Amino acid sequence: MHSIAIDGPSGAGKSTLAKRLADHYGWNYVDTGAVYRAVGLACRRANIDPRDEAAVTGSILPNIEVSLSYAPDGRQITRLNGEDVSSAIRVDEISRYASDASALASVRKFLLDLQRDMAVTHNVVMDGRDIGTVVLPDATVKIFLTAQTETRARRRWLELCQRGEEKTLDDVLSSIRQRDTNDEARANAPLRQADDAVLLDNTDLDEDAAFTAAVKMISEKIKNL
Ligand code: DC
Repeated sequence: MHSIAIDGPSGAGKSTLAKRLADHYGWNYVDTGAVYRAVGLACRRANIDPRDEAAVTGSILPNIEVSLSYAPDGRQITRLNGEDVSSAIRVDEISRYASDASALASVRKFLLDLQRDMAVTHNVVMDGRDIGTVVLPDATVKIFLTAQTETRARRRWLELCQRGEEKTLDDVLSSIRQRDTNDEARANAPLRQADDAVLLDNTDLDEDAAFTAAVKMISEKIKNL
């Protein structure tokens, strides 16, 4: 099996690139942020602070089941106790819940096998924060995708505007900074570039140029694709 791991900070364009690569190669796209978001949503609904390790570990994790599947059109479906929460996990408020919950060792352990299992029977393009370092340390190709903070905030803001969420660019910038700090500073599987990952900075690249650069990196590692 082949796997492409794409890690990087929030708003770097990981999902856009990963989806396109998955389409291009005919592989499954696995958005691992979705499972952390599902745990975040469970905390939100239960009115539990996602930083409260005892409460999350004792009251949330034993009562939830998170699963990933695919719709006929290839779209990833995220379920929380059987309910399709693919849209509910996308609102900006849940980003913070997911980021806070993802700092907990118990949450990361709870979600690890679910992510690894996705790559056992299918070739995958998987994106997240610790795919190249923890989830798939033997991934065939590892890309660390990043961009300047302001660029990432502007892209995320435009995406939220399109979805009708009313946020200012400043709100989104401070939420991205907060998440960067959380994701990089946490003790458990912090966001970092794996030693054998290639860096792709797309600050000055549009989606097509980033895709072309990634395909080149991949074809250098995997011959005969
Ligand atoms: O990629 P995203 O914004 O949907 O991810 C939501 C949060 O989940 C993010 O702030 C950090 C966490 N996350 C993680 O810790 N590890 C992953 N592999 C994916 C996401």
